[in-house]
Amino acid sequence: MAKPNLSPKINLNKHNFESLLQERVNNEISKYVINSNEIDESMHYALSNPGKRVRPLLTYLVGDVLNLDFDKLDGTASAIEIIHTYSLVHDDLPCMDNDDLRRGKPTLHVKYSESTAVLAGDAMASLAIDIILQDVNLNSDLKVELLQFLMKTIGPEGMILGQIQDISFENTSASEEEIIKMNELKTGALVEFSMLAPVIIAGETTDQWKKIAKRIGITFQLIDDLLDIQESEENLGKAAKKDKKKNKKNYPICFGVDKTRNKIKQYQDDVRIILNDMNLTEHPISIYINKLFDRQR
Ligand code: IPE
Ligand code: IPE
Ligand code: MG
Ligand code: MG
Ligand code: MG
Repeated sequence: MAKPNLSPKINLNKHNFESLLQERVNNEISKYVINSNEIDESMHYALSNPGKRVRPLLTYLVGDVLNLDFDKLDGTASAIEIIHTYSLVHDDLPCMDNDDLRRGKPTLHVKYSESTAVLAGDAMASLAIDIILQDVNLNSDLKVELLQFLMKTIGPEGMILGQIQDISFENTSASEEEIIKMNELKTGALVEFSMLAPVIIAGETTDQWKKIAKRIGITFQLIDDLLDIQESEENLGKAAKKDKKKNKKNYPICFGVDKTRNKIKQYQDDVRIILNDMNLTEHPISIYINKLFDRQR
């Protein structure tokens, strides 16, 4: 692997930003999971098998716009990716979505055991909180503010509420409003946190960023649901054509692919206008956000 660039500030441009930031996230995460005992080994399995690293990349890219030193973001960015990975480990469990493949490899409960997957998920959630608590680059007030926000984001009013809705809707119907709200909670909330954490760390106002982040968060799940219908397991590195079989009530299943595409287009147009107003059209963040809207995996 190339030597990671760990200077506090990287000169990002539209050609290098994705690989440089992915390398930084992978390097940071590898510091925390040393693979020294039974639980570390399973966490290492989940974390060293990189996904797209979307959320920490968004954190660094917003930080770059705000001219923050990246060492102020390293802990938070890792914590976010570790929480996301825990959510996937639990999401794949037999009592949840019951999936065998994740990021192109057997899911954690298949590779180890169900009990290990439950505990590795729990351990990753605790580890992430601890990473922020121990961050030497943030002052105590900031850590409290970030952790309060993070707990709202992933707790029983946030991601977990969205996940329980997702499961309970398997046995009932759901309205358009309920499905969008579920997307916002189960997936959007952590995406929003990823984009707003650097704004908080920079001491800037969050209004414009909130509008962008909310739309990107909801759309991220709408696209995931479309990809389940349209793409192959091989391309996605996870089960495909599965949501309907599981009786999921997601947007394309309930309202069709065309209406979903229109909805995505609306959100994309809104985001483009705001980024334009913020004079960010040429910044790597706009390139990355557009890439997320057009993603095929
Ligand atoms: C998948 O997230 C689950 C959702 C919240 C939609 P990602 O598509 O970011 O998965 P990885 O991290 O790249 O594997
Ligand atoms: C997962 O949504 C959301 C969270 C893990 C919070 P999905 O169940 O659609 O994600 P995939 O398709 O399994 O990656
Ligand atoms: Mg799920
Ligand atoms: Mg799932
Ligand atoms: Mg999905």
